[in-house]
Amino acid sequence: MQLSLLDNVDPRQNAEDRVKELCTLLEYHNKRYYQLDAPEISDAEYDGLFRELVALEDRYPELISPGSPSQRVGGAPVGRFRPVTHRLPMLSLENAFNDEEIRSKLDARLKKELGLPDGAAIAYMCEPKMDGLAVELIYEQGLLTVASTRGDGVTGEDVTQNIRTLRGVPLRLTGTGVPELLEVRGEVYLSLDAFQKLNRDREENGEPPFANPRNAAAGSLRQLDPRITARRPLSLYCYAPGTVAGAGFTSQQEFLTVIAGWGLPVNPLTRRVKDVDGAAAYYGEMCQRRESLPYEIDGTVVKVDSFPLQRELGEKSRSPLWAIACKFPPRQAETVLEGIILSVGRTGVITPVAQLRPVEISGVTVARATLHNWDELAAKDIRVGDTVVVERAGDVIPAVVRVVVEHRSGSERAVPPPVNCPECGSAVVRIDGEVAVRCVGLSCPPQIRESIKHFASRGAMDVDGLGDKFVEQLLSLGLVHTVADLYRLTKDDFMRFDRMGDKLAANLLSALEASKTCDLGRFVYALGIRHVGERTAKALAQAFGSLENLEKATIEELTSVRDIGSAVAQSIFTFFSTPDNRAVISQLGALGVSPGSVAKTVGGRLSGKSFVFTGTLTRFNRDYARKLVEDQGGSVVGSVSGKTDYVVAGEEAGSKLAKARDLGVTVLGEQEFLDLLEAV
Ligand code: IVH
Repeated sequence: MQLSLLDNVDPRQNAEDRVKELCTLLEYHNKRYYQLDAPEISDAEYDGLFRELVALEDRYPELISPGSPSQRVGGAPVGRFRPVTHRLPMLSLENAFNDEEIRSKLDARLKKELGLPDGAAIAYMCEPKMDGLAVELIYEQGLLTVASTRGDGVTGEDVTQNIRTLRGVPLRLTGTGVPELLEVRGEVYLSLDAFQKLNRDREENGEPPFANPRNAAAGSLRQLDPRITARRPLSLYCYAPGTVAGAGFTSQQEFLTVIAGWGLPVNPLTRRVKDVDGAAAYYGEMCQRRESLPYEIDGTVVKVDSFPLQRELGEKSRSPLWAIACKFPPRQAETVLEGIILSVGRTGVITPVAQLRPVEISGVTVARATLHNWDELAAKDIRVGDTVVVERAGDVIPAVVRVVVEHRSGSERAVPPPVNCPECGSAVVRIDGEVAVRCVGLSCPPQIRESIKHFASRGAMDVDGLGDKFVEQLLSLGLVHTVADLYRLTKDDFMRFDRMGDKLAANLLSALEASKTCDLGRFVYALGIRHVGERTAKALAQAFGSLENLEKATIEELTSVRDIGSAVAQSIFTFFSTPDNRAVISQLGALGVSPGSVAKTVGGRLSGKSFVFTGTLTRFNRDYARKLVEDQGGSVVGSVSGKTDYVVAGEEAGSKLAKARDLGVTVLGEQEFLDLLEAV
């Protein structure tokens, strides 16, 4: 008998080899992308490799290693952060405010301390001073084991799970000479793009925006639920050693080069200079470059390069003698608040906007600034007529930082939150737990205007050519009142526009026609349901498969969709229960708008079966378990009822387990659950 070659292939062994290979490949491409800024493969190819890894790890959970790139996505939320005491205190830096002070407060003092003659030169390492928050990462035998915030310098908080979600942070160090212990300090920051996007999303959801990228980075890192951190694209630059065992460095330059070789991210703008003139020139150069960097820096840091010299100089209680932070002048200015305008957004949120006496802040004339919301206005006690400090902090929209109370004359006027919408006159509401004041008027003109713009925009129905300007004209000509009216437009309607030609009108009509068959996720996003961004819309489309199913969904069914909590579920439910919205959706249907259905896993072997997970799962996390169930056509719900098919109980399962037993629902342990999946 002849054996086929295939009989010798052990699928388990194959999977193990491939998992190792994928881990190495993904970490390599992460490094190309995040540290070297020189990707070799497309995002889609990267995602393909990533999905392959997750699929294999799903099949063989025992192959999941703590260093696997899949383990970045964040485990279960933690109740509170565990305190971590730093082996060596995390010091801060003394400040200088111009290049002259680098000379007097650092270079001249050090020369005196060391007894060097005036003409001698000290070599420095110059680095951008990242405006984020300081963290310490501990690598043991090359593996990331603990990450903590600076805290008070002595004790910080354990944010290991959150740091693991940063794609630029290696979970395992690579290369030669990786030491048995490496404590490394660095700054976690959020890029300006990511910061602006985060604030746009927050404002859309009625959440208060972050004042600057630093606050946003701190807020994102200190999330008890690492899955939230995972969605914020935080980055890290490493800049200082803590305790190191098994490796030695003679200078800061060598340290940075070596750790970069092990895969740690180091700012490429760091530079060694031979003397203080070089440090002063670097500061001047960075003052200029600051405006064009994709992240915020608030100064430069000048450090004695030689480690033996650093040791000789030592430190004071709070800061080392061998370094100084040279801060940039703040991008702030004082001006007068001439008025407060009320701006109504797409979701009805009424935002106070400051009208300012125009003032120049680092080259930009500022006449308007956001006041964020009414709570903030009250907390800062900002009044019309006040002299205020305005700041440009990474955001395109400047913000009012504080009032210069000393300049008050007594004639300033406080502006209370509106009782009626400034645009349509409807009574406003303030929903519990939200800072936003909202107009819920169904025919509020700016809301209609913004929601039609949103409907046609890229990412939503993507009606090519139908930008904000055209939507404004359609409204002012009285041609559209709801999004459905867009599909009733004729060529003659468009010809009434300023500077419209036959060709453009025909293009707009065909773009509208083409949008009728968009995919369901885009359509759901285009509806502009509060709290439903692109990602949630996509998840809804996948979970419900068709618009009809989504329209009928109960709160419980909605909350069973990944990442949808009760507030979002309630908002979706309310949207589809509102008669006006139902009417517009049915008109859209009648006009031929038929978003494509998404292939839902139907007829899977767990089709129609519902699962509840309770207690602490030790073999896999809930997201993973949910995926296994959904892949087979089953669903995962939050609470146990007579209709639940299975309850999967981990350690310390409590009331849900008791309820399942009372109701006679089948209870499975983790292994039994895996066995069931194998069997179906
Ligand atoms: S060195 C003892 N280098 O600035 C050395 N700090 O004001 C301590 N920072 O707490 C820090 N960029 O959060 C160093 N390239 C850099 C830095 C940097 C930003 C922050 C760090 C530190 C604070 C001190």
